[in-house]
Amino acid sequence: MTTTFPRPETLEATRPRFPVWPASTRPAAHGDLTVGGVSLAEAAERFGTPVYLVDEDEVRARCRTYREAFPDAEVYYAAKAFLCRAMAHWVAEEGLGLDVCSRGELELAVTTGFPAEHMVLHGNAKSPDELEAALRLGVGRIVIDCTTEIARIAALVPHGSRQRVLLRIAPGIAAGVHPAVRTGTVDQKFGLSSTDGTAQLAIARVLEQPRLELVGLHCHLGSQIDSAKPYLQAVRRMVALLHWTRQTHDVLLPELDLGGGHAIAYRPGEDALDIRALASRVRAELRSACTTVDLPEPRLLLEPGRAIAGPAGIALYRVLAVKQSGRHTFVAVDGGMSDNPRPALYGVRYAPCLVGRTASAELRPVDVVGRHCEAGDVIASGVELPADIRPGDLLAVPASGAYHLSMASGYNLVGRPPVVAVTGGTARLLVRRESLADVRSRDVGL
Ligand code: LLP
Repeated sequence: MTTTFPRPETLEATRPRFPVWPASTRPAAHGDLTVGGVSLAEAAERFGTPVYLVDEDEVRARCRTYREAFPDAEVYYAAKAFLCRAMAHWVAEEGLGLDVCSRGELELAVTTGFPAEHMVLHGNAKSPDELEAALRLGVGRIVIDCTTEIARIAALVPHGSRQRVLLRIAPGIAAGVHPAVRTGTVDQKFGLSSTDGTAQLAIARVLEQPRLELVGLHCHLGSQIDSAKPYLQAVRRMVALLHWTRQTHDVLLPELDLGGGHAIAYRPGEDALDIRALASRVRAELRSACTTVDLPEPRLLLEPGRAIAGPAGIALYRVLAVKQSGRHTFVAVDGGMSDNPRPALYGVRYAPCLVGRTASAELRPVDVVGRHCEAGDVIASGVELPADIRPGDLLAVPASGAYHLSMASGYNLVGRPPVVAVTGGTARLLVRRESLADVRSRDVGL
């Protein structure tokens, strides 16, 4: 079956009305919205709440935006943002590779047919199991994160073959919206510092290993970075290290992986990183940095996660309770920090809105909170919702596609929500709800 997708430009044209929603979002009768042609109210009825919807066309369009903006680069979708088998298929069909960081991600993708050759394996503490699986399955590239991994990986490579590896560098750049997601500095656990000589030492050690093929250098600066500047700085520092490698070892490393971290807008008025602008600025910087030291331009690799999955996802919750307490009105829903720990972890706030009924009441500020046993279980504070908000109402939270379900927990044993794909007016279940039976079946002893 051939499916035709709207060009990204057309998608952008429809976005202003619903700036942080998938481009397919449309108003429908009785205060409803449709996404991918599917009514949110009907999806909530059919699949129950909480439920995550993911707009397949939005995911695909976002993959294509990267491919078009970086035609010469290899783009690896960072599976940690959100992975299920369908997602692996969409990403593969759009010509992206996959960045995996655990045996679970690796094997889920491989067993659904994703070519291991187009994967890159990450991790600051890869287990022997993970490395063994990666080599057995033929992962394209392994990103080495510490010097002790060098001999460990080399020892697992079968005689007569070579494993392609990159070295993860901490280039000493502070970028990212929250300290927990700043990974480009030298005072955190990822990468090897290029300022104290650790990275240079590791490069020399990898080059000494006949079973490892050092194909390039990697850095991932952090997450939710809304400016191109840190990437340009990274390009300059990484090119300096590529140059050093050639000068010192007479080896030209052909690849430069700049990781992910591209910001999305969670609430109207917030800025997403402009991927096309990023592409042209990074390319220009790379050209100029390489020309200065007379180095051939390396092939770029990128690993976006959030910017592909995040804006495609919507969380739907049912309101269970409304309470006035002090100066606050609390609107409590049937999910919360077990399906979205991001507000509690990083202080992120979302923009929930009422769907499924028309409300004539005036708007008033409320705090939308979860159902979990912590006061920090807040989805959005001070958001404007109709004053007559009541139990049974449906709230939709856009920009919920990345790092929600992939970070979901079993807190309070409420069970993780299902994932439903919406496209072309059809909704289909991708991941079923975690049931009490699932929870019980893991509890095997008395
Ligand atoms: N590459 C590497 C090596 C990474 O560690 C990550 C994210 C990515 C790529 C993708 O980054 P993205 O484009 O999605 O920002 N839980 C946090 C985000 C942690 C990201 C960890 N690494 C959150 O919810 O914001």
